[in-house]
Amino acid sequence: MSGRKVFIHAFGCQMNKLDAELALSALKQAGYEEVASPGEADVILYNTCSVRSHAEQRAYSNIGKLKHLKRRKPHLVIGVLGCMAQKDRESIIERLPHVNIVCGTREFPRIVELIEEARQGASVLACSESGAVSVERDVARRPTRFRAYVSIMRGCDNFCAYCIVPYVRGRETSRPPQDIEDEVRRLVDDGCREITLLGQNVNSYGKSFDRPGALPELLCRLDRIAGLDRLRFVTSHPKDVTREMLQAVRDLPSVCEHLHMPAQSGSDRILSAMNRSYTSGRYRELLALAKELVPGVSVASDFIVGFPGETEEDFERTASLVREARFQQCFVFKYSPRPRTPAARLVDDVSGEDKRRRNIKLLEIQSAVSADEQRTFIGKDVEVLVEGLSKHDPNRLAGRLRTNQIVVFEGPSELAGKLVRVRVTETTPLTLCGALAETG
Ligand code: 5AD
Ligand code: SF4
Repeated sequence: MSGRKVFIHAFGCQMNKLDAELALSALKQAGYEEVASPGEADVILYNTCSVRSHAEQRAYSNIGKLKHLKRRKPHLVIGVLGCMAQKDRESIIERLPHVNIVCGTREFPRIVELIEEARQGASVLACSESGAVSVERDVARRPTRFRAYVSIMRGCDNFCAYCIVPYVRGRETSRPPQDIEDEVRRLVDDGCREITLLGQNVNSYGKSFDRPGALPELLCRLDRIAGLDRLRFVTSHPKDVTREMLQAVRDLPSVCEHLHMPAQSGSDRILSAMNRSYTSGRYRELLALAKELVPGVSVASDFIVGFPGETEEDFERTASLVREARFQQCFVFKYSPRPRTPAARLVDDVSGEDKRRRNIKLLEIQSAVSADEQRTFIGKDVEVLVEGLSKHDPNRLAGRLRTNQIVVFEGPSELAGKLVRVRVTETTPLTLCGALAETG
């Protein structure tokens, strides 16, 4: 029997990490064992991202390097999975002959079968564009015991002008609520305390079975599961955020007071060119409504700088939004044209230098906001779900608040997976530092 050591790596978003986890779960059930480096593996799989050109370049560079390994180990099976595989299918097989499998976003559950086919000597191309993805998994196999991602929908119907996702992930399809509930129950029975629901556009959950706006109901259903401490959901498109959804965040004890609601720009002209279906005024109203209805809510946002036609004035509007909105966190991306998208037909006229400068400036503004906001925690006791040892300081533990801030403090490693109270003593723009508080 051929070797069953597999190396798998995911680029890009949480959804991609979850997909890699699900593929690995299927592989383990078929007798595979995970290894930590490509050099030890019989099968190497990359789950790729194509949302920005930078992520794609990284994936291509990693895949390119495997050519030498394949020469030394001719039986090695190399698979490219996910968004970039979907997008560049034929050209990957043509240009990278050392790749054996190209498997799109809707076919990765067939990975075990595809590897067997590749071992018969075929170049395997599996990139159908339709079909729901089965997300069956062995709940016992996940990276962290007490936290898990659960996919509630796939694909996206929004067609923002810059975004490749609708083309590589296909139309929006929601999973039936009962399936989601069953999976969450199994996870919680297995010791999970925090669940993050994933979808490109979670707040239009239900649209594919004619129940748009079904997210609050789903949250309500999952909130009833005993033993689930924290429930999160990402990502929310501002146009689909409703009062009912915000009320659910406020009223359901497990649902965390944190929204990831990308604004993308603060200029109405650019928002319209991006096909985002809201104005900066509407976005500000939504923020105000969220803050009014959900006390203490924290909001994170994404921004693209250097979209075609973005002037200094447009950028200044974005900068003002970031100054005003007091986001908990901002992710800023330099625009890159993506094939097939409407924006790719526009001239990419903002220079690399301007994109870089705007990117840095926006991050500086946010960093000052974060520093200020973080300082308001000094002296307070906060509830932390302990995730484990801090990545930067192995002598301390790290965890998160319901509102998503990272907290670092000293304590025994057995606290991982537990809810504890920490008194905050110091802060940086990214981290709260503190000590375990006495609990009564
Ligand atoms: N260029 C730059 N950033 C992009 N994003 C999506 N498409 C592009 C693109 N073509 C960003 C958006 C989105 C995040 C996941 O990636 O901000 O919210
Ligand atoms: Fe995730 Fe989008 Fe990248 Fe695909 S293209 S991996 S959906 S970020």
